Amino acid sequence: MNIAVVGTGYVGLVSGTCFAEMGNQVTCVDIDAGKVDSLRDGRLTIYEPGLEVYFDRGRREDRLRFTTSLAEALEEAEVVFLALPTPPAEDGSADLQYVLGVADDIGGLLAANPDWGYKVLVDKSTVPVGTSRRVTDAVEAHGLTAGEHFDVVSNPEFLREGVAVDDFMKPERVVVGTSSEKAGEVMTRLYEPFVRQGNPILLMDEESAEMTKYAANSLLAAKITFMNEIANLCERVGADVDEVRRGIGTDSRIGPKFLYAGIGFGGSCFPKDVQALHRTAREEGYSFEILDAVLRVNDEQRKSLIPRIVEALSDDGRLDGKTIGMWGLAFKPHTDDVREAPAHVLIRELTALGADVVAFDPEAVETTKATFEREPLSGDGALAYAESAYEAADGADALVVATEWPEFRRPDLTRVRRSMTGDAPLVFDGRNVFDPQDMADAGFTYHSIGRPHVPPVAVGDEAGVGRGGDALAS
Ligand code: UDX
Repeated sequence: MNIAVVGTGYVGLVSGTCFAEMGNQVTCVDIDAGKVDSLRDGRLTIYEPGLEVYFDRGRREDRLRFTTSLAEALEEAEVVFLALPTPPAEDGSADLQYVLGVADDIGGLLAANPDWGYKVLVDKSTVPVGTSRRVTDAVEAHGLTAGEHFDVVSNPEFLREGVAVDDFMKPERVVVGTSSEKAGEVMTRLYEPFVRQGNPILLMDEESAEMTKYAANSLLAAKITFMNEIANLCERVGADVDEVRRGIGTDSRIGPKFLYAGIGFGGSCFPKDVQALHRTAREEGYSFEILDAVLRVNDEQRKSLIPRIVEALSDDGRLDGKTIGMWGLAFKPHTDDVREAPAHVLIRELTALGADVVAFDPEAVETTKATFEREPLSGDGALAYAESAYEAADGADALVVATEWPEFRRPDLTRVRRSMTGDAPLVFDGRNVFDPQDMADAGFTYHSIGRPHVPPVAVGDEAGVGRGGDALAS
């Protein structure tokens, strides 16, 4: 099929590339000429595992093209995906200016070129319930008729960053919201090769499809938040959230996934989508109490290590002169995305208290630099970047694990301990990547989320050069 994808951000680029991999002819459009040039030259503008192979193949075999001309992409396209940004506006609502602006442009082009034929316009961006209707109106304003010249479909994406290519190629479900039988058939034809293992293409009305996206992300965010509150309580009663997770995750009604306690969720989707649904509810005169709590609890959770760090390192509530090593900047592993990253919240809080932070992340240093250039840190403490996890820990008064990158899971703990200050160096594990007993045995004063504290074991260093053992020897 011939497909146009308008917007080459994360969702547009992954979708366009994967549609091309499935044998479709895809033209991606963006108003950013620099981006289009780079993509044409074969330079990917995002980091996403597995994408490059498909991107290179699509370009080489000329199934994947890039242009700044909407008209060029639209002319031959049977299906047109709108994968445009919908940033939160000042008041927290999704800003639809890009989506509606492009809908208006498409209406103008289709009205001026009646021989281009019937098009299916697909909302791929996460948009408030009712947006399909508004897109339809924007196109119809050019004298066109839905059902005859075009139809609008809501087709929310459920891609997880880091595994987006897999999620796209083998979706657990495809949600297609449309009241048009013709558009439903086109979409079914397009997606059938992606669900050959038997996963469903779910046809429904536009509003339900739009709501499905918000409901899914809000429920997942609530699930994580619920576990974070259970973890906070576990700490107080001496229970272990890992055991509780195993205990409840075996109930098939609950399921084992998304039950990992930590320093809160981040990313470009959960915070934004929970906020947007909360707002939609308010606009409808409905107070969605759970969502309100999810947002408040998550904000607190992202900062929850701070009082513990302060208590361990300071008598006066300040952290001046202290150095904190930080492992992880991305909002989760396998991405360079730092939007709403808990690590960034911690860095802001720690430097505001006067601490110097030395951070390492395998992918997200550049995105972090760009973020703090745009929105500078305000405190007395400084932020520096290390070349490796070991370098970030070197000389640190405490180490914080903020993102569970696999490479952080099995470090040389003796090396880390010897390089840090203190007899039993402090580790604050915001992602529960280590076993508390292992960390105690390795001589660390180890804090994690929702698990009992195990006192550090005295560690005698072989050559007697380490700082680990003596003071604690009993
Ligand atoms: C999410 C949804 O999963 C996806 O379907 C949607 O369309 C876009 O938003 P993504 O933002 O890429 O995807 O991240 P995801 O892997 O879902 O994780 C979100 C956040 O929750 C991360 O900050 C992660 O660290 C956190 N998380 C996840 C937990 O704290 N605990 C868990 O058990 C799972």
